[in-house]
Amino acid sequence: MHRHYRLIQRCLPGLLLLGLLAVGACAGPFPQTTLHPKSDLGFAIDHLFTGIFAWATAVFVVVEGLLVYALIRFRAKPGAPVPHPTHGHTALEITWTLAPVLILVMVAVPTIRTIFATQAPAPAGSLKVEVIGHQWWWEYRYPDLGVVTANELHIPVGKTIALDMTSNDVIHSFWIPAIAAKRDVVPGHVNHIVFKADTLGEYMGQCAEFCGDSHANMRLRAFVETDSAFNAWVANQKQPPVDPKPNTIQATGKDDFAHGACIACHTIQGVSAGMIGPNLTHLASRTTIAGATFPDDSIDLIQWVNHAPSRKPGAVMMDMNLPQANLQAIVAYLMSLK
Ligand code: CUA
Repeated sequence: MHRHYRLIQRCLPGLLLLGLLAVGACAGPFPQTTLHPKSDLGFAIDHLFTGIFAWATAVFVVVEGLLVYALIRFRAKPGAPVPHPTHGHTALEITWTLAPVLILVMVAVPTIRTIFATQAPAPAGSLKVEVIGHQWWWEYRYPDLGVVTANELHIPVGKTIALDMTSNDVIHSFWIPAIAAKRDVVPGHVNHIVFKADTLGEYMGQCAEFCGDSHANMRLRAFVETDSAFNAWVANQKQPPVDPKPNTIQATGKDDFAHGACIACHTIQGVSAGMIGPNLTHLASRTTIAGATFPDDSIDLIQWVNHAPSRKPGAVMMDMNLPQANLQAIVAYLMSLK
């Protein structure tokens, strides 16, 4: 009795810690959970996971149950005889060879079926989006719509989306857990994801393959929209950039932009043609900057333009160190590019 009491006392802190961890796992929200799929692809993978998890649980319960039974049933007792070992029991041998084979078949069949279903070519009429990974941001091109944007993917609900994905530099991994699963983005090679999102909303994602200093800052967002909201977004993206009214701070900013270092890397349609950084033609229509890491507002843009590497380690964009007046004007211009 005393020994039992001491054992419980010794285990108590560990049990409490485990309990706390278990309860902590119930807190929310989980913007990047894979367990609440919102697309056909997400659902197919979740379904597969649930099935395999059920098999794994059954195996665990049976194996651990037999182990615990043997531990109790055959534990050493003073004066008890040595248990008789079993050798060459044909029925047992056949059972524990066949049972795992059957379980593996039950796992393999749905797995292979899901692989073929999710790797099928996109049906005609899908909305094509080219995804290009960069250190450390995402570029999206809609070749049939003539739209180029960065970090924030807009798609219509209920329509099949065909992502053709490659990388500009190193291997990244495109991952939007709720709707688009995960797939590597490899330089010199095109990978595909085909999916249909079924619920409106804003979904978080991020790069899931270590790709250098700012891997953790290579985030992304996906906006699943109604047809009319998506069409309105497309129509706005196809517009030429806003041209500031003369003699405004935005006009000064446009002039500073067009005659400064920004044009070496960034495109603003009709103003500059740089191809290294994100296209800024409609920068202010996005909610985030710098790999969906910071909010797209004046304060963050000012810090970003002048001190990008200190905000995002390894950023290709250098400290611009612009005089305050130029900086304010350029940011005012960028913020006008709705
Ligand atoms: Cu891109 Cu990690």
